[in-house]
Amino acid sequence: MKNTLKGFGAALCLTLPLFAQTPARAADQALVQRGAYLAKAGDCVACHTAPKGKPFAGGLPMTTPMGQIYTTNITPDPQTGIGGYTEEDFARAMREGVAKDGHNLYPAMPYPSYAKVNDDDMKALYAYFMSGVAPVQQANREPDIKWPLNMRWPLKFWNMVFLDKGVYQDKPGKDVAWNRGAYLIQGLGHCGSCHTPRGIAFQEKALDESGSAFLTGGLLDGWFAANLTGEHNVGLGRWNDQDLQAFLKTGANRHASAFGSMTSVINNSTQGLNDTDIAAMSTYLKSLPPAGGSGAPPYKYDPQATKVSLNRPANDAGARVYTAYCMHCHGVDGRGFAPMLAPLSGNPNVLEKDPSSLINVTLNGTEDLVIGGIPAPYPMPKYAPVLNDQQIADVLTFVRAGWNNGAPAVTADDVAKLRKSTHAAR
Ligand code: HEC
Ligand code: HEC
Ligand code: HEC
Repeated sequence: MKNTLKGFGAALCLTLPLFAQTPARAADQALVQRGAYLAKAGDCVACHTAPKGKPFAGGLPMTTPMGQIYTTNITPDPQTGIGGYTEEDFARAMREGVAKDGHNLYPAMPYPSYAKVNDDDMKALYAYFMSGVAPVQQANREPDIKWPLNMRWPLKFWNMVFLDKGVYQDKPGKDVAWNRGAYLIQGLGHCGSCHTPRGIAFQEKALDESGSAFLTGGLLDGWFAANLTGEHNVGLGRWNDQDLQAFLKTGANRHASAFGSMTSVINNSTQGLNDTDIAAMSTYLKSLPPAGGSGAPPYKYDPQATKVSLNRPANDAGARVYTAYCMHCHGVDGRGFAPMLAPLSGNPNVLEKDPSSLINVTLNGTEDLVIGGIPAPYPMPKYAPVLNDQQIADVLTFVRAGWNNGAPAVTADDVAKLRKSTHAAR
């Protein structure tokens, strides 16, 4: 289609040199621009770019249950990138996880989500990657997975069991915003690849709201991606539409701020989406019924007991660490200075049973949130060099019990494990 358009443009060009090139060119360019927007919605750049590397040239290490793999070059370079891909090849890689030469891709590439992308959007994405992205010659790196685990053919069976073929179909009875939100969240946004728990074969336990585990929170790469259902403590039950839209646009609101692996989603993807799409995503997420959580009654702020321990920190190891290292930012009242400085009272990440994200962010700090080109003014520092495992366990236990949060304690063992498997964010 694209080639015929081009040919059409060229033919007109020969006969009508002054006017004719414009309509076809303009159509091509509009398609490329739409593709650029969709690539943002799909956050392709986050995975397909190595630290300090050229955009889309690949080389980012990713951890899978079998070992480390590297993302590939998806610039239009014909030798090392996807310059030789036809639109059909491209669509097959995106929807079925099969490269042009026929080898199966590891599902670290979120093709089970991208399978839902419709034909028009696939065409625009292809146009962008062929004509809107600069070619970079950079050879792909082989995965660090040893034989026999490196064999890719078993992935064919994985796909037979876990891949839902078929693009997103509008759900009757739901309005335009809901369907648009569902399409973006389940498809290009691949939110479930982090936020849905994975099963024994690394598969997401559900790919849409018909499965009860969908977006109930998942652990990936040392970060626990929060529950996004309507659950009132660990989920989004206490967030209204404005809260949610502010979070996706700016990475922060009165309840929490983005950190860990969510930072790059905000930096590269959601902040660049238009207000209609952000509102649609919010509409869809807010429609998800409560799931997960501990069944505790809705959180109620109560600072009294915590104020007492902070007045006499000598009696409480966690309060001692908190007053020395955390209080000047997060406050005596645990409310921080939202949205600039995240509150810890009532924060869904703090209330979540799995403490991985809290330990990780305290050990390693977090990558800078950059909104409209401006980095966050007071990013969370890293404490791995300053505090030992017991001190981090103590302070997080204090934070999880504080201000009526009522979340379970953190052990020094939990901290030791993450100290080994994670590294400083900056
Ligand atoms: C969560 C990380 C992640 C995201 C996001 C992602 N990819 Fe990938 N992609 C990968 C990995 C990893 C591979 C290589 C898998 C392998 O080697 O088995 C890959 C492979 C590919 C391939 C096959 C090319 C080749 O030679 O291996 C294409 C095409 C591709 N991605 C396109 C895209 C596009 C377009 C987007 C955005 C809409 C995107 N990817 C987003 C991780 C990602
Ligand atoms: C690469 C993994 C990853 C992807 C992809 C991802 N998230 Fe997240 N997300 C996280 C992590 C980790 C957290 C917890 C840390 C935080 O609150 O920022 C989080 C937190 C959030 C929160 C705040 C929840 C809370 O209670 O604080 C929202 C809202 C959210 N994500 C929405 C989304 C949406 C919508 C998408 C898809 C467009 C998405 N996320 C994709 C990793 C991810
Ligand atoms: C310089 C100010 C500063 C200090 C000191 C600080 N933090 Fe933070 N903290 C932040 C900011 C800002 C965020 C939000 C993430 C970001 O943008 O970096 C955050 C986020 C967090 C979060 C994640 C909550 C969320 O949902 O955003 C936890 C947990 C946390 N801090 C715990 C601590 C602990 C424990 C200490 C002391 C050991 C501490 N912080 C000291 C600034 C600070």
